[in-house]
Amino acid sequence: MTFSKRTDWPKVLNLFSRKAEECRRSGQTPLDLTESNPTRCAFDYLKPKILEGFSNPQSLLYEPDPRGLLAAREAVCRYYAEKGIRIGPDQVFLTASTSEAYTYLFRLLCNPGEPALAPAPSYPLFRYLSELNDIELCEYRLRYNGEAWRVDIPHLERSFKNKTKAVILVNPNNPTGNFIHAHEREAVLSLCRKEEAAVICDEVFHDFAFHSTEEPSIGFAGEERVLSFTLSGVSKIVGLPQAKLSWIVVNGPKALREEAARRLEVLADTYLSVNTPSQRALAGWLERRKEIQGEILERLRTNRRFLSERLEGVEAVRLLGSEGGWYAVLEVKSPCDDEALAIRLLEKRQVLVHPGYLFDFEGGCFLVLSLLPPSEVFREGVERMVWELMDTP
Ligand SMILES: Cc1ncc(COP(=O)(O)O)c(C=O)c1O
Repeated sequence: MTFSKRTDWPKVLNLFSRKAEECRRSGQTPLDLTESNPTRCAFDYLKPKILEGFSNPQSLLYEPDPRGLLAAREAVCRYYAEKGIRIGPDQVFLTASTSEAYTYLFRLLCNPGEPALAPAPSYPLFRYLSELNDIELCEYRLRYNGEAWRVDIPHLERSFKNKTKAVILVNPNNPTGNFIHAHEREAVLSLCRKEEAAVICDEVFHDFAFHSTEEPSIGFAGEERVLSFTLSGVSKIVGLPQAKLSWIVVNGPKALREEAARRLEVLADTYLSVNTPSQRALAGWLERRKEIQGEILERLRTNRRFLSERLEGVEAVRLLGSEGGWYAVLEVKSPCDDEALAIRLLEKRQVLVHPGYLFDFEGGCFLVLSLLPPSEVFREGVERMVWELMDTP
């Protein structure tokens, strides 16, 4: 009996994950600065009123629609209308997760082996999603310019291959926190037009900008110039990953967009994976999102402010600039192995952080912290990390 090559994953976990597992099994409880599950981060919005959405009697009926229930898709349209983006419910497809949305889109756009381009450093799951869907994942680099990470446009241009079908943008990116700015958007669109590639824009963190009251980047949902797919969902924008509800907004030149939607509808009809109670609850959750996001944003900003102040004058490490999202990236100045450093922080200081290699950083030693943990946990974890970094030769 043989299994498919696409599931030939290494049998052993990487060293860092093994150490973290050993630590947990031995009953230790390190301060977890990788925690990005909002339901474990002591937020007030997770009160029973969130459950009210589930008491809708219509949830007892099964009336599947491959695109998702109309009332839920209309709620998604209102969400975008409040951002100044006009789309119709026929452009919205509900999925059970963003991962499922990627799966649909890779299946829609790529024949086996055809390439899609994804940013690096970025979300580690892209590698798995591409392998599982038999596409070739090629990377284009983001570069730090001293203030923020930006798309390296010449590198993106060089990375196109024959039959590259899509460019994935993450707006803002996980974990580097850079939004896609106007000049990057225009460059990406012009390349996609030239190469006949679609844009897949992941905006799950789009509502979490650190500074301005204005969004640093208008989203892609209204983008009509190329075939575009904008992804988002409740796991981040209302902090409910357990509700398993995401969406794709299809846009672009009318004929292309309609053809894409026709094909997506068959794909979605094959699975009908979205649960009814979450679809029925969606409108209510989205109406309350400002309150929920306000609480999450307050946590993100407080933790980031603390980190920035605490690291002032600490020579060993710098906090890299970021515009939004749920993470902070630190660059350790002395040359070191980020996995070895993360293991040392765990074993010696009982604090868990991500080594940068998990996100495909290159050319330095990087650590990634979640900004979501309760502030007392975050502060204590950062203190311990700083003591260790100051000890690092
Ligand atoms: C860029 C990005 N997209 C999508 C997701 C996951 O979204 P979902 O829970 O809807 O699958 C994450 C999770 O961290 C993410 O970082």
